[in-house]
Amino acid sequence: MQKSKIDVILGIQWGDEGKGKIVDVLAPRYDIIARFQGGPNAGHTIKFGGATHVLHTIPSGIFHEGKVNVIGNGVLVDACIFCREIAELRQAGVEPRRRMKISDKAHLILPTHRMLDAALEQRKGARKIGSTVKGIGPAYTDKTARCGLRMGDIFSTDFTRKYRELKEEHLSQLAHYGFDAESALIDQMPWQEYEKQWLAGIEELRGFEVVSTEFYLDEAMRQGKKILAEGAQGTLLDVDFGSYPFVTSSSTVTAGVCVGLGVPPSAIGKVYGIFKAYCTRVGSGPFPTELDDETGETLRRNGHEFGATTGRSRRTGWLDLPALRYTLMVNGITDLVMMKADVMDDFPVLKVAESYRMDGKRVENYPDTETAENVEPVYVEMPGWQRPLSGIRDYAALPAAFKAYVEYIGKNTGLDIKMISVGPDREETIMNA
Ligand code: IMP
Repeated sequence: MQKSKIDVILGIQWGDEGKGKIVDVLAPRYDIIARFQGGPNAGHTIKFGGATHVLHTIPSGIFHEGKVNVIGNGVLVDACIFCREIAELRQAGVEPRRRMKISDKAHLILPTHRMLDAALEQRKGARKIGSTVKGIGPAYTDKTARCGLRMGDIFSTDFTRKYRELKEEHLSQLAHYGFDAESALIDQMPWQEYEKQWLAGIEELRGFEVVSTEFYLDEAMRQGKKILAEGAQGTLLDVDFGSYPFVTSSSTVTAGVCVGLGVPPSAIGKVYGIFKAYCTRVGSGPFPTELDDETGETLRRNGHEFGATTGRSRRTGWLDLPALRYTLMVNGITDLVMMKADVMDDFPVLKVAESYRMDGKRVENYPDTETAENVEPVYVEMPGWQRPLSGIRDYAALPAAFKAYVEYIGKNTGLDIKMISVGPDREETIMNA
């Protein structure tokens, strides 16, 4: 039997595109859903049956009976946040233990990583990244510095010593930064209390199946099983290709699937690029099409653009085609999926940036961070559809002005939009292929 391929779902803007919903919609077509990077900085929202669920570390296929959810080696696990997610799933009637495998090579976020994240942000002052302060940067730093703790370590008889040594190292770094660790809070509780919950979380994690998931995935591909890799954050937050340093610390691009799951490049199949019909960004960094006006406020209000992880209000702006073309290029996107166009149902006119201008010259390509802070978008105006999209399930029934918007994006990116989401519920999805 020929080995099966792994399809990939990626956010191709600055995160929060709605990947969780699309993973959930596509999950019935797959046997295995695998997260390959990021950690609890993600907030994947899924709505069905009148309930809303937000996942941070756990793959979005968890609500589907019979699917295996894999937390790959590229993911970071905070034992405390993980356990909160587990408790919420159990409350919703899902027993995650039977449906999940965790890589023994996934790194742990320690409570002191979270304090280090806060301390480093504080030191950056006005140039702060706007991190979610979930410890992502410091935990990936320890991973590459080769001093991190991994899931496999929690079974070692030496775990307590390893944990204590790394914690002490972090506390001395914090003292060096002048950070008052003694009275620090994590998630509104004294960090010592957080540490207790974290250690209880480690105990809970010991009851999960922790294995070398690369072997499991290889065997699954040999058996022809269908695998979906679920990205977190977005390409414009990628540690290499995002607007560095205003990025996250992992590879959010297609190549990240290979290192984050231990699969070869030849195993990659379809790559779904998820984008919103407009743009949002949380945290600092350039955002060429940002709107600081009433229209931006309307996008935020209609689109409920407040972070699922931090509750922070998201910056909003028009769709940015140079940015989109860049992300299609670095990821090899095969299928586009457009989200949240319904947020603009009432708009009489829409704008799309089709290129940028700087010093009187046209800038076609997505620029480096400093240039991106100074370019001026060149907009194309399009008439709005001024009709609610959310009840529509069939592409043919969509308003002509909306179809013109979809086709314009297709023409300017060279890719057809294969799926259109017109509301948060699973059902509010139009297949266009
Ligand atoms: P960190 O990954 O928490 O260190 O945050 C780095 C940057 O990425 C900040 O601008 C965050 O707001 C942003 N970020 C991290 N995770 C997400 C996400 O899941 N959605 C949107 N933005 C995110």
